[in-house]
Amino acid sequence: MNFGHFDDENMEYVVTTPKTPLPWINYLGSNDFFSLISNTSGGYSFYKDAKLLRLTRYRYNDVPLDSNGKYFYIKDGAAIWNPGWQPTKTELDEYECRHGMGYTKFHGKKGDISANVLCFVPMDDTCEVQKIVVTNDGSSEKKIQLFSYVEFCLWNAMDDMTNYQRNLSTGEVEVIGSTIYHKTEYRERRNHYAVYSVNTKADGFDTSREDFIGVYNSGANPDAVIEGKCRNSIASGWYPIASHQIDITLAPGESKSYVFVLGYCENPKDQKWEAQDVINKAPAEKMLAKYQTDEDVDKSFDNLRTYWKKLLSKFTVNTKNDKVNRMVNIWNQYQCMVTFNMSRSASYYESGIGRGMGFRDSCQDLLGFVHLIPDRARQRIIDIASTQFQDGSAYHQYQPLTKKGNSDIGSGFNDDPLWLIAGTSAYIRETGDTTILDEIVPYDNDMSVATSLFEHLTRSLDYIINHKGPHDLPLIGRADWNDCLNLNCFSEHPGESFQTFGPSEGPVAESVFIGGMFVKYGNEYADLCDFIGKKDEADRARSEVEKMVKALLGAGWDGKWFIRAYDANGNKVGSNECDEGKIYIEPQGFCVLAGVGVETGEAQKAMDSVKEMLDTKYGIMILQPAYTRYHVELGEISSYPPGYKENAGIFCHNNPWVSIAETVIGDGDRAFEIYQKTCPAYLQDISEIHRTEPYVYSQMVAGRDARFHGQGKNSWLTGTAAWTFTDISQYILGVYPTLKGLQINPCIPHGFGDFTVTREYRNAVYHITVKNPSDVCKGVLKMTVDGNDISGNVIPYDPSKKDVNIEIVMG
Ligand code: BGC
Repeated sequence: MNFGHFDDENMEYVVTTPKTPLPWINYLGSNDFFSLISNTSGGYSFYKDAKLLRLTRYRYNDVPLDSNGKYFYIKDGAAIWNPGWQPTKTELDEYECRHGMGYTKFHGKKGDISANVLCFVPMDDTCEVQKIVVTNDGSSEKKIQLFSYVEFCLWNAMDDMTNYQRNLSTGEVEVIGSTIYHKTEYRERRNHYAVYSVNTKADGFDTSREDFIGVYNSGANPDAVIEGKCRNSIASGWYPIASHQIDITLAPGESKSYVFVLGYCENPKDQKWEAQDVINKAPAEKMLAKYQTDEDVDKSFDNLRTYWKKLLSKFTVNTKNDKVNRMVNIWNQYQCMVTFNMSRSASYYESGIGRGMGFRDSCQDLLGFVHLIPDRARQRIIDIASTQFQDGSAYHQYQPLTKKGNSDIGSGFNDDPLWLIAGTSAYIRETGDTTILDEIVPYDNDMSVATSLFEHLTRSLDYIINHKGPHDLPLIGRADWNDCLNLNCFSEHPGESFQTFGPSEGPVAESVFIGGMFVKYGNEYADLCDFIGKKDEADRARSEVEKMVKALLGAGWDGKWFIRAYDANGNKVGSNECDEGKIYIEPQGFCVLAGVGVETGEAQKAMDSVKEMLDTKYGIMILQPAYTRYHVELGEISSYPPGYKENAGIFCHNNPWVSIAETVIGDGDRAFEIYQKTCPAYLQDISEIHRTEPYVYSQMVAGRDARFHGQGKNSWLTGTAAWTFTDISQYILGVYPTLKGLQINPCIPHGFGDFTVTREYRNAVYHITVKNPSDVCKGVLKMTVDGNDISGNVIPYDPSKKDVNIEIVMG
């Protein structure tokens, strides 16, 4: 069942009913100011850090779902409605929500009045702009009222939800004309405030929630709107809000438009005040002056659209498959940008309060956005590496505002170091910029022990080499990629962290998955070393990789698939010997994509076992059989009911690993089948089952053992975005950046047909045409570059060229 449709021309998803199975959201903002916005106007805004600098309040786990938001109420006689339907939920005669690239539009109509709302965050400003146009579609004059509504969060979102004994006494505002200033805590240690303003004279305002809504009412029936009169309240403590009342007369056919701005402003410490208790409003006035007319807004909106058009033109594909085209050209890359901005911090499933930026998450996200914003990827790599420890291990998370590691979770996730090599290698393969390796980067933010980034990578590699267990496989530490496989933890009491409780690290528990990663990224490290002339170091890395391959094909091999791990007692995890959890997806995907067992046959066997034991119509499950009881020696993984999350859910993140692995062994049909199964555009027609947004990937789809098999959860902030983009663009379509130039090596399903790719790469545009006259899955028979035949399939990099035309004949 569908709840909307794609509009590829405008790069939008059009939601046609507010009653979607779950809130379907979008993200506004590209730099420092962000808003989450749902198809019913729910969501919240923050500056830089969703925990520490939150502008508006959101109520998690609330009923009805998805409250609070930034709302417009229209009062037309007795009818009160919202263009985005919530919170009044008045039935609308027309409703549409268009989620676009960095903006969202609503169209609502009730009776003779229609309203069109555009919300976006300008490219270079710290505010959300909302333009609302109300129109009288009837044949007689109309007098209506428009009310705006935002509820302020008292900045620190965690504190805001917990510390009422203090917070209900701290709220402060100022009101000047149509501008409402939220200045809680400004009197002491904050130098920032929020502002909500409209470009017309307001006929009333409210800043106290109780006055606007009424003590026992809700957003669905605010007193002030029902009575058609704001109270001009000035909040003092309690619950500060901002609402404007605008009385409007509309002639038949007439439209009027209003521009609202919700912004974040900062003052230098010594220029905080205009007078005693009067905040310095200069930055707000400067910001608001930019959005006074429709033309101002249109110009700023055009900038945003141009930005996205340009950005997304860096990689475009044209196949005969619409779904592939729209996911690759629009939504998959867009989601990669959102994960760049948010990591795993703020979504409708991540409260923005718990985790900051994940070390491994951010490194993997980089794989999906490095071709779009290489400069920012460079900075990101340096930020991440600055949270590494001197021994090569790393803080598992860091806070975006301070860029400091989170010590409550600490380090000890033994896959983390290798992801830094993955991210850095992707950056250099994309840009050719090896100078990043010479950057001097601190450890744990301590400049006194800083070394080159290259040395960071060496220490990453050595961390694995120096932390091996009894089978010469990497020690797992607190967990590897699978945060929930906690082999050194043994927690028996609720509330203890599965990752940090107990010894957490141990000399026995080993991860075959990290072994696979070591092969993949050890080789990439060696390639980098060769590229910068460090041949001895390259040889050293390759000999370590060889040792690892031996261990993987020895103690890491179970006969038909790769074992997942050895636990703290030396018992196998993910082996045919186990009663539950006999086979896991991660080592099959990663070992095979790293090339382990490709020549000796294990790779094919592992892929066959995945298909036989883990596959479903909605994707590949993480393990089978699901754990039916809690295994203290395995940890959080067995805490989930069967079929959910890491306990046999379909973790979309590692489906592309298997798809990539299939391309490595040359099975384009299977690689593409896997791609399709989790691809949101293919799931649109079963939205009543899948439930999450049909334009972005979800972290998890409930597995076969779950009651709600096929149901998606945790949409948006998932490594699935980056890995799927890597899979489809670099392995299936086969446009892979190497250190020496672009390599073209597609691995496509039968019947996929010819296709073209346009790709920006190191300051040139590559126009690639792939022809497949014999309908093969893999193999490049012939390649011409600007009309000249070349041998091999890597396009020699020539910095003097701005446009390069490539023709590939598969066969
Ligand atoms: C985390 C990842 C982790 C994955 C599997 C996600 O929630 O962000 O870091 O790899 O779960 O446990």
